[in-house]
Amino acid sequence: MMQTITLTRPDDWHLHLRDGVALQTVVPHSAAQFGRAIVMPNLQPPITTAAAALAYRARIRAAVPPGVQFEPLMTLYLTDNLPADEIKRAVEAGVVAVKLYPAGATTHSDAGVTDLRKTWKTLEAMQRAGMPLLLHGEVTTPEVDIFDREAVFIERQLIPLRHDFPELKIVLEHITTREAVQYVNAADRFTGATLTAHHLLFNRNAIFTGASGAGLRPHYFCLPVLKREMHRQALLQAASSGSAKFFLGSDSAPHAAHLKESAVGCAGCYTAPVAMELYAQAFDSVGALDQLEAFASFNGADFYGLPRNSGHITLKRETWVVPESFAYDEALLKPLRSGETLPWRMV
Ligand code: NCD
Ligand code: ZN
Repeated sequence: MMQTITLTRPDDWHLHLRDGVALQTVVPHSAAQFGRAIVMPNLQPPITTAAAALAYRARIRAAVPPGVQFEPLMTLYLTDNLPADEIKRAVEAGVVAVKLYPAGATTHSDAGVTDLRKTWKTLEAMQRAGMPLLLHGEVTTPEVDIFDREAVFIERQLIPLRHDFPELKIVLEHITTREAVQYVNAADRFTGATLTAHHLLFNRNAIFTGASGAGLRPHYFCLPVLKREMHRQALLQAASSGSAKFFLGSDSAPHAAHLKESAVGCAGCYTAPVAMELYAQAFDSVGALDQLEAFASFNGADFYGLPRNSGHITLKRETWVVPESFAYDEALLKPLRSGETLPWRMV
């Protein structure tokens, strides 16, 4: 049995860092594990200009601990009226992608796209520039069951979009279903997908399980919501299959604990402090630790056309207890698995 594993320094291709004082807590957690991260633009107000992305990047960089190498890769938030011209400015500013949130799909998505047709000119400019479109792939129509939102998005939105933009680079973010795995497997080299550690490790029962029976666990609530076991198995198979189309995106999404443990709790799992430990556990569970490096450290960089990292990290098979919480502005932030024992540890 493998006792330690050393990997090329991984990258996180889907991360929420928030802003202001929150950066002081969360940036060091991601920087301790990852060389780079794609930073999601769903602030309030969202990041919709190259200038705002550069200013946000400077605030993130200022929160990286001294002596630590961590490069935030910036994104713009697609709205119904993001001008096509902004894409040129974004390329020049080093912005790496544009994120599409269907309006109302998730945390801070009210400025999101109401109708894809309104974004045509901007998508054309992106296709021309080789700028990837990152998709939160869920429909938001209330008659669609929340557990079906991703599969319905693929049928109703993604297949027509791909037909109209055959060479637009698209990343289907945080995929959660067998249907998404099948779509990405059948797609060409312009399509990739990120996978979170929590969707590889847990099915939807995790949201409704107490210490001795039933219970409601808000820290397992995220969007897209955890799915059935057969979907989890399909995701794990895809991540560990050796296919270069699948890569790591933690979707670590911090919310103050009291805003999750509430009558109307926020969606998002905070996994940054335990991300690589959770991915190692997931890959180990199917005897695929040898596939972890390509998934975590190579496939995403290759898809984005960026160099692979040069440093390394090491994980060890050793139990440890995840901290209960971290100080987060004036509140507390609880990581997924807080107070629980994990089998792998970063050393
Ligand atoms: C994310 C957040 O909190 O910003 N929440 C989540 O449940 N994943 C938004 C998102 O990625 O959907
Ligand atoms: Zn996200």
